[in-house]
Amino acid sequence: MIKAPSTNEAFPATRLRRTRAEDWSRRMVRETTLRPDNLIWPLFVREGDGTPEPVASLPGVNRLSINDVVDHARQAVDLNIPAIALFPRIDPANKTDDGSHAHDPGNLICRCISAVRDNVPGLGIITDVALDPFTSHGHDGVIIDGSVANDETIDVLVRQAITQARAGASVIAPSDMMDGRIGAIRAGLDAEGFTDVMIMAYAAKFSSSFYGPFRDAVGAGKTANTIGKDTYQIDPSNSDEAMREIALDISEGTDFIIVKPGMPYLDIIQRASSSYAIPIIAYQVSGEYAMIEAAAAAGFIDRSRIIMESLTAFRRAGANAIITYHAAEVASHLT
Ligand code: PBG
Repeated sequence: MIKAPSTNEAFPATRLRRTRAEDWSRRMVRETTLRPDNLIWPLFVREGDGTPEPVASLPGVNRLSINDVVDHARQAVDLNIPAIALFPRIDPANKTDDGSHAHDPGNLICRCISAVRDNVPGLGIITDVALDPFTSHGHDGVIIDGSVANDETIDVLVRQAITQARAGASVIAPSDMMDGRIGAIRAGLDAEGFTDVMIMAYAAKFSSSFYGPFRDAVGAGKTANTIGKDTYQIDPSNSDEAMREIALDISEGTDFIIVKPGMPYLDIIQRASSSYAIPIIAYQVSGEYAMIEAAAAAGFIDRSRIIMESLTAFRRAGANAIITYHAAEVASHLT
C-alpha cells in the first residue's frame, strides 16, 4: 500500500499532471498493457456449409460453418491471438434430456475441433464442457427428480471432455459448475493418456443475466423454468464463496481460472489474482458485448475507445487474458 503524503507538503512540489502532459511520458508511465497475446476469441459453430448466420442479440457475431471457423482460426493466427474458444449450436434433433450427444465423437464440436487442429497448427483450441447446448431443457447437467444432478452429470462431463480431447482440443473448459468436476475430468483425461491437455475451469461463474444473448446464440434459451441456474452458478452477492470455488478447482488440478462475467466482477478478478498464483482469465460475456454495441449504435458512446478501456480494465484488475467477442477487431488494431 502506498502511503499518501500529507497534503500540505505535497503541493506545489508534487504535480501528477506533469507526466500526463505529453504522449511520450504518458506512454512511459503506463502501468497496464494489452496485447493480442492477452485475447481469446470465442466462435459459434453450426451445421452445414451455409454463409455466416448473424446472432440477432450480438450484432457483428455470427454462427459459422466449420469451414468458416477454420478461416477465422487462420485469421486468429495471423493476428497473434493465441487461442479460440468454440461453442456449438446443436441441431435440436440431437438434443435429449440426458445430453448424450455431447460425447458422440461425430458431433459438430468434435468435427470442428479436428478441422481446426488439422488445418491451423499452432493455435490453442479451447472447448466448452457443459451439457446446455445438448440438453432439450437447456440446463448444464442432467435432471433427476426435479433438480440438476451433480454426480450423474459429472460422469457425462468426463466422457464429453475425453471425446473433445480425442478430437484434438488443447484446453478443456468446464463451464457447468458441478461440484468436483475438475478433479474427475483431470483423472479421466489422465487415464486416457491426455496428461498434457489443459483444463481452464470456469471456477468463479456467477448466476448472471449477462448471459442472455449467448443462450440465444447457442439455442439454449429456454431452460426449464422450474429450476434456475442459480442452483449451480454462484450468487452474484458472494465473493468469499467465489474464492472457495477457485481454491477447490486449483486443488483439483485446473491450469487456469475463469472469472465470469467480467466487468461487473472486476473485484473478483482482482481478489483472485492477488490471492492465487495461477493465470486468471476474464470472460467479457455476451451481455457486456451487447450493451457496448447497443449504446454505440445509438451514438451514446465512443465505441472503439470503450472497447479498449474495458479490456484494459480487465488487465489492470489482474487478468492474464480476456475472452472477448471483440478479440479479432482489437488484435487488428494492436498489431
Ligand atoms: C454455458 C455457458 C454460458 C456461457 C458460456 N458457457 C451460458 C450459461 O451459463 O447459461 C455464457 C457466455 C456469454 O454469455 O458470453 N455452459
